[in-house]
Amino acid sequence: MDISEIKKITDDAELVNVLYRLFDESSRLNRGKAARVEFTTTVTYIEKYGKPGMAMLDIGAGAGAYSFYFAEKGYSVHAVELADKNAEEFRKRMAGKRNIRFTQGNALDLSDFEDESFDIVLLLGPLYHLHSEKDRDRALLEAKRVLKKEGVLFVAFINNDMIPYTEWNYREDYLLTGDYDKDTFKAEDFPFVFMNLKECRDLLARNGLRILRSVASDGMSELLEEKIEKLDDDGYAQYLKMHLFYCEREEHLGKTNHFLFVTKKR
Ligand SMILES: C[S@@+](CC[C@H](N)C(=O)[O-])C[C@H]1O[C@@H](n2cnc3c(N)ncnc32)[C@H](O)[C@@H]1O
Repeated sequence: MDISEIKKITDDAELVNVLYRLFDESSRLNRGKAARVEFTTTVTYIEKYGKPGMAMLDIGAGAGAYSFYFAEKGYSVHAVELADKNAEEFRKRMAGKRNIRFTQGNALDLSDFEDESFDIVLLLGPLYHLHSEKDRDRALLEAKRVLKKEGVLFVAFINNDMIPYTEWNYREDYLLTGDYDKDTFKAEDFPFVFMNLKECRDLLARNGLRILRSVASDGMSELLEEKIEKLDDDGYAQYLKMHLFYCEREEHLGKTNHFLFVTKKR
C-alpha cells in the first residue's frame, strides 16, 4: 500500500493496523542512545509515583517496552494493544514471563476493566492516533475511570511545534514543501496527530485531570541524535543528567518531540 492509499484511510483502528505493519515498534525506543532518552525519562517519572506490587494498566502498550520493564520490577501489569502486529509480538514476548497479562483491545472501550482498579495507568500512544476530539476525550475518560482515586495517570503526546525542526533535519525542502500550514505551523495530522503544549493541557483539564508535572520527555534528542550516538558512557550519562535537569522547565517544553504529563483525578 503506498502513502496516498494510506492517507485515504479514515478509520483510526484500520490506520493503526496498517501503520504498525510498516513501523517496527519493538525497536523504536532502544535502537540507539538518542531513542533511549524518551524511555529512560518516562520510566524515571513513573518510578517517582509507582512501586513494585502496584496494579498497572498499559494502554496502547505497543510491543511492550514499558509493560515488560515494570512486570520485571514486580508490578502487576495488564497491557492493552490494538494493532495486530504489535499484539502478536507482545504475546510472543510473554512466554515464561510473570506479572503480565494482555488483552487485544481499544483504548476507547476498557469495559473489560472495573472502575478504580489500577494504581498506575499509562496512556502512552493512543492519543496520537485518535483524530477526533470526541475520541481523545473518550480515551481519557476511560483511562480515568479505571484509575484508583489516588492513582496516577501518565499521558503522552507528540508535540506539533517540534515537527518543522525535526522534519527539516530529514528533508532539505521541508520548510517550503512540507505538509503543514505555512502560517500557523500546524502539521498535517498524518501519520500521527500532533498537538501543542496548550492544546494538550486544555484537553487534560477538560477531562477532569489535574496536571502534576509536564515533562519534555525526549527534548532535543532526535535533533541531536548524531552527536548523542557518538557519546561514550560518561558523556551519555552527563547528557541524560542535563536532559533530566531541564526537562520540566517551562521554557524547554516547547522543544521536545514528545510530552509526558503526570496527572491525577481532580
Ligand atoms: C507509538 S506506540 C507507543 C507504544 C508504547 N506505549 C510506548 O510508549 O512505547 C502507540 C501504540 O498505541 C497503539 N494504539 C493506537 N491507538 C490505539 C487504541 N485506540 N487503542 C489501543 N491501542 C492503540 C498503537 O497500536 C501503538 O502500539
